[in-house]
Amino acid sequence: MTKSRIMKSALSTDDVNWLIKTFNESEDRIYNETSYTSWLDIEHNDLIKNWIADKLEFFSAEQINTGFIYEMNTAYMPHCDGTKDGQLQLNIPLERSYEEKQELVIFEQTTKVGPITWIDAYYPKRDEKTSGLNNLFYGPILPYQVNNHTLQHIDIDFYRNHLMRSPEIYWGLTPETVFEQIPGDVLVFDPNAVHCTGSMPKNQNKLGMVVRIDELPQ
Ligand SMILES: [Fe+2]
Repeated sequence: MTKSRIMKSALSTDDVNWLIKTFNESEDRIYNETSYTSWLDIEHNDLIKNWIADKLEFFSAEQINTGFIYEMNTAYMPHCDGTKDGQLQLNIPLERSYEEKQELVIFEQTTKVGPITWIDAYYPKRDEKTSGLNNLFYGPILPYQVNNHTLQHIDIDFYRNHLMRSPEIYWGLTPETVFEQIPGDVLVFDPNAVHCTGSMPKNQNKLGMVVRIDELPQ
């Protein structure tokens, strides 16, 4: 699997606005009261699948395995999304309600145990429902769960600059990429890699899109 890469200015402002408008006007948005305040599944939405494949050009709509546009108001915990080897995942930031920069952190460690979210002990109980797609595990991340676990604590300077959950949960991790979520830029990464939202102000919203694509033919 390739390492992460960032496609600068892959989408124009008009493109980003089209996705935001499509999301806001859709009657298929699903609401809940957990990490994702609402989302719109694109797995069966041929309009959006064809549109994004046409814009980004390096995959076809048929290769889209799953995806959604999401609105969230809390930093998502470290997790892996991969369901099988050879997939790529896109992170497409769209809009946020705050001025501070927003980052997504990708770690070098990849899952051994399938989709999983690690929750720290301080997380509100009601948010356990965030499982949505993933199995839940109460942190810290354990050596048998990921490849290349370091048996060391997360670098404390990196933690202070980029992360916000309790530091213990990141045990054994080393950062691979910090993606500054600028609308228009697109991150391509391995969904088997552990990743999480960077520091995020409380009670604010951000909008983004996730697309998972099956491996491209060689
Ligand atoms: Fe994810």
